[in-house]
Order: sequence, then structure tokens, then C-alpha cells
Amino acid sequence: MRKIFVAGNWKMNNGIAVAEDFMKGFGALLENDDKLFRAVGTKQLQIAVFPPFLSLAKSLECKPDPLMIVGAQNVNDKESGAYTGEVSIPMLQELEVKYVLIGHSERRHIFGETNEFLNKKLISSVKAGMTPVYCVGETLEERENGTAFDVIKAQLVEGMKGVSVAADKFIIAYEPVWAIGTGKTATPADAEEICKFVRETIKELYGADFAENVLILYGGSVKPDNTADIMAQPDIDGVLVGGASLKYGSFIEICKAAI
Ligand code: PGA
Repeated sequence: MRKIFVAGNWKMNNGIAVAEDFMKGFGALLENDDKLFRAVGTKQLQIAVFPPFLSLAKSLECKPDPLMIVGAQNVNDKESGAYTGEVSIPMLQELEVKYVLIGHSERRHIFGETNEFLNKKLISSVKAGMTPVYCVGETLEERENGTAFDVIKAQLVEGMKGVSVAADKFIIAYEPVWAIGTGKTATPADAEEICKFVRETIKELYGADFAENVLILYGGSVKPDNTADIMAQPDIDGVLVGGASLKYGSFIEICKAAI
């Protein structure tokens, strides 16, 4: 039985003071909700947030310990060196950060990160024992011209080439680019169609056992009121939430709707 994974991607929001306020507020609400608290305590539900780098330390310090995962939004594939503006895996490990988003569509489309570059990041992260949340998804143009499946397959095949990992140390997030921050959610059926395709592709690459156990998340305009329908889909194990994860009040409602 696969676990449920609810993740909040804060993007370039929630600096140090807001991160502290979020963690304290979220922790108080979590402790007061028996059902949710039990789901987290038994690890039936895992809750993660991905703050900007500067807010990582404060988020870790103030998170409702040991229940919540705090991960990074990005990482460089190199250990150290002349890479201005980058953050390395050893730096994240110094903070005991174990989860990292890799290949978010904003990294791919705004910062030009290719499947080849993301492959290097995945290989380095997995080698270091980190758990990547590898994001894939098609643009509106790709969806409309009928290449969505090809694009996603290439993101999986090229991005994960040579990545040797256990199913419980790897997460995939399907996020259609046209649904991110736009208020347009894929219908639960559309999201399921692609998540099922992702699982089938993973089966071809890693075998049935791996595919059966790996967590696949949906992301793109997830809100408290559409979470339950999305989570009801058989191949969707969790959600990756942007805008609605910034405030602890709405993020906790998503967590409640997911279980
Ligand atoms: P959104 O972002 O929930 O604001 O659409 C999702 C994401 O980009 O991870």
C-alpha cells in the first residue's frame, strides 16, 4: 500500500520570518487534529514543504518535529567550486535536508534546465542518499499538438538515465505546465491518465515492483476543494502544491482532504 505524500512548494515566497510563523501555526493546528496527527504519526501521510534556501534553517528549527519533511527546491550536481549562486548537496546535507525538487517546470522553462542537466542532478542526489521529487509535465502547446505523452516519456527516460535507486527513495510529480499558477486544474481524469502513463513508463524502465511502489504526485492549481477528487485517482499518491501551500491554514486543509 503506497503512502500519501502532500508537498508544498513555496517557490520564491515565505522568507525567514514567515517560515517561522508558518511552522508554528501549522504545528499548532496539526496537534489539535487527532485524525491528521495520527495519519502523520503512523506515516500513512507524509507532509513536506520546500522553502527557499534562505528559509530552510529556520523551517527546520521550527517545524513540528519529527513529523514534517523540509526539502530544498533545487540543488547543483557538483560538490563545490566556482558556480556562483548555486547550492550543493553537501551544503543541504549539513542542514540534514534529505528531499529535493528536481526539474520543476519553472527551472526547465524559465532557467533553461534540460533533461540532460536534470539527469546529472538526479544522479548526484541519489548517490548522496537524497530523495528527489522529479517533476515532469507538458506545456499547453505540447498538449494541444498531441506530443504530451512523448514529452513526458522523454523527461522520464532521459532524466532518469542511469539513475539507480530504490522506489521508496524517489518520487515523481506530474505537473502540467498549463495548470501551474493559472487556476486551471487538470480534471482528475486527465491527471490520472498521465499519472498512469508515468507509472507504465516507469514499469518499462525499472520493473513492476518499482512501479507499484513509487509515489506519483499531481501538481497544478491544487486547492483544498479539489484535493479529494484528485486523490481519489488510483495512480495519484499525493499532491505538489504551490500557491495554496503558502499559508498554513489552506495547506492544512489540503492535508486533511488528502487522507
Ligand atoms: P500551483 O503550483 O499550485 O500554484 O499551481 C504548483 C507547482 O508549481 O508546484
